[in-house]
Amino acid sequence: MDKLIVEGGVPLHGRITVSGSKNAALPILMACLLAEGPVALSNVPRLRDIHTSLRLLDILGCETEFSGNEATSCVTNLSPEAPYDLVKTMRASVLCLGPLLARLGEARVALPGGCAIGARPVDLHLKGLERMGAEFELTEGYILGKSGRLKGAHITFDFPTVGGTENLLMAASLAEGETILENAAREPEVTDLANFLNAMGAKITGQGTSVLRVQGVEKLTGCSYRVMPDRIEAGTYLVAAAITGGELEVADCPFQELDAVSYKLREMGVWLEERDDHVLVRPEGRIRGVDVVTQPYPGFPTDMQAQLMALMCVADGTGSIEEKIFENRFMHVQELARLGANITLKGRMGIVRGVDQLVGAQVMASDLRASASLVLAGLAASGRTEISRIYHLDRGYEGIEDKLSGVGARIWREKE
Ligand code: EPZ
Repeated sequence: MDKLIVEGGVPLHGRITVSGSKNAALPILMACLLAEGPVALSNVPRLRDIHTSLRLLDILGCETEFSGNEATSCVTNLSPEAPYDLVKTMRASVLCLGPLLARLGEARVALPGGCAIGARPVDLHLKGLERMGAEFELTEGYILGKSGRLKGAHITFDFPTVGGTENLLMAASLAEGETILENAAREPEVTDLANFLNAMGAKITGQGTSVLRVQGVEKLTGCSYRVMPDRIEAGTYLVAAAITGGELEVADCPFQELDAVSYKLREMGVWLEERDDHVLVRPEGRIRGVDVVTQPYPGFPTDMQAQLMALMCVADGTGSIEEKIFENRFMHVQELARLGANITLKGRMGIVRGVDQLVGAQVMASDLRASASLVLAGLAASGRTEISRIYHLDRGYEGIEDKLSGVGARIWREKE
């Protein structure tokens, strides 16, 4: 396994370009199962989860190609089975459930396990699909789904689930009649999926609101589509400028979709200015601690929680973070403490007392955003930080050490 070495204390200066969004590309790749004809995607980030998704499409009977940041997929002979040994490496594989039921009327998808941040159930996905006529049996760790042609339904989610909204949008696109999704997720990646489905001939309205309406159609055709930039990767680099006391131009930054993050960063004393093709970011003097609560979009994103906590560790004063989306998303806290951070956990609340200086140490990544948090803390710490198990990081950050080295960071990869 690889590890990352960071020699911290260097203010970052220069320009970083944001890659395509992992959390938009993953559902969009699964939606390719719905197309009768070839799909060409651009701005697809080169990440482990993308390779895993393309392998799943191959197993499900598509011909795929991936070169540079261009991916193509064409359905040849659809199969209904998504095997456990693949699904266990990427829970987002469950997003093939809606497309398989819509196209084949059957699906055999391994139940995605939990992960480091929580149990991650899919009950809301299944309840919604049952309202559309699907029947499910859970056996031997697999979800067995059967349906005739899915029927449009009026569905209200108990919780604005991102994956649940995405699975139902894909299923409803080919269902008979109208589907209304209430209390739907409003995340920009859900909107990007809806826009992609419409580019294939779907009839979806309400994007960005909590009520999505879908008029089912008979078929969807192939198309070309550019995946939106990754707002969480972008937010991570905004924090990198602030935590190192440097100044960055973050290019292709989806700034409009980062309102809750930019609001908090400004409250902490970070200067942010939207320019023609980038966002200029730098701290204005000492960073201040703030209070944050993670919420569904447009609230503060849970995927930026660990990164903001790293910044709070070196702020002047005390801040707090309440994690209201996942039940166990503080795995980075003990690792940050190894770098000298002063954090107290009380249930789903973290109290962060800023320190003057973090000091490099050996730490271990536990999940994707926790590993980003450790990189950020390592950039700020004096001395050398070694981050092990960085395969977590490779799931969501395309070429992170190259991008950071390009703006002055002393960071490189070594074999463990
Ligand atoms: C998506 O996960 C993202 N993943 C996550 O990003 C992100 O943290 C999350 O949305 C919230 O924004 C992808 O898009 C691939 P949810 P998802 O369904 O769809 C509960 C990252 O770091 N829930 O909105 O799994 C669930 O347990 C990843 O890039 C149910 O109870 O999120 C959780 O507590 C991590 N039953 C909450 O809702 C269900 O049927 C949010 O889940 C579904 C969800």
